Amino acid sequence: MAIARPIPDLNDRPYFHPDFLTHRWEVWGVWGVWEVWGERFLPHPPTPPTLLDFSLVRNPGHKAFVAVYNQRMQKLTITRPDDWHLHLRDGAALKAVLPFTVRQFARAIIMPNLKPPIRSVADAACYRDRILAAIPEGQQFEPLMTLYLTDNTSPDEILRAKESPFIKAVKYYPAGATTNSDSGVTDILKCDRVFEAMQQVDMPLLLHGEVTDNDVDTFDREKVFIERHLIPFKQRFPNLRVVLEHITTSDAVQYVLSANTIAATITPQHLLFNRNALFKGGLRTHFYCLPILKREEHRQALLQAATSGNPKFFLGTDSAPHTRTSKESSCGCAGCFSALHALELYAEAFESVKALDKLEAFASFYGPDFYQLPRNTERITLSKTTWRVPDEVPFMESGLVPLGAGQEMTWQMV
Ligand code: NCD
Ligand code: ZN
Repeated sequence: MAIARPIPDLNDRPYFHPDFLTHRWEVWGVWGVWEVWGERFLPHPPTPPTLLDFSLVRNPGHKAFVAVYNQRMQKLTITRPDDWHLHLRDGAALKAVLPFTVRQFARAIIMPNLKPPIRSVADAACYRDRILAAIPEGQQFEPLMTLYLTDNTSPDEILRAKESPFIKAVKYYPAGATTNSDSGVTDILKCDRVFEAMQQVDMPLLLHGEVTDNDVDTFDREKVFIERHLIPFKQRFPNLRVVLEHITTSDAVQYVLSANTIAATITPQHLLFNRNALFKGGLRTHFYCLPILKREEHRQALLQAATSGNPKFFLGTDSAPHTRTSKESSCGCAGCFSALHALELYAEAFESVKALDKLEAFASFYGPDFYQLPRNTERITLSKTTWRVPDEVPFMESGLVPLGAGQEMTWQMV
């Protein structure tokens, strides 16, 4: 058994966080060596540490510390999460992908970028009925609907949306920014009357935060959107609650931290991969999504934000299914499919920075808190098991390739 050397800053160890005793780590693995000021006791019994161990750890004034090495955490039980950014599509595609989300999540914010988009409360009501009809027999799931903002959305539609019990937000796509965004907003200034209504009735605005200008480098489009559009927008509508969706840069993290009434969702792909994934040994279109993967320093900033315990950052997968043929094409579609194993992917990301104790709040608390909805009460369990992400799951005519297909995972939802 490898013996780690004494740990310089005990507070950096998630297992010694003040919340330690209330955490729901249910099954403990074998406890390794513990060490008091260099003196070793072997072997520690295979139980969690006692309160005495804990108080010693938290009392550096003793000039002594106890290091307890958790060799392997076997199970993690958390409140059932919600997905605050999801593409379900429609028809046969909806039927194929919805069961994956229902298995993991209690609720999801459903993106409105269908063809044609969900522009009115009436459209959203019909789409919601189709989603409800596609839920597998005997299972529970609540779709939280959104409206697709266009140049022609009226303030009256916002008032109607506010009255509807199931519309929770309005989605802004800059025209042409991503999949099915042709009817999006051509100029953010054109919608000020609608934003005024939204601010008035407290309807959240969800932003695809990228400029579409051809003279702006693809990798800079989020940063430029923040500078050119979001900062002035937030000055015009300081009380409008905003979610900057699927953030990808340290610039976005910084901005969200600095501004009021703004939160952000973070996807598993942006936590786990940097832009090298797009080019590893060839062009890897299954890693292509928008906003595009960025440099490693940005991935690090996102990981830090997601695991910081700051309620402004919460889970939104942006799982966006496209058939294999539409991805593997001379003009491949943008979107990664992660609904199959979203929680496992997030668990891998959080574990990589020893922050599994922050996963529950990110996945299950901060989203409902932002949307002013109750937190779920049911719980789900992930277990430490090695498995391989399948190469494909059945979907339409040519199958669906999950994010990280073929890669090994070490957590699995049970
Ligand atoms: C999404 C899709 O396919 O609908 N694609 C993506 O790359 N994220 C649209 C979106 O959210 O941008
Ligand atoms: Zn999306």
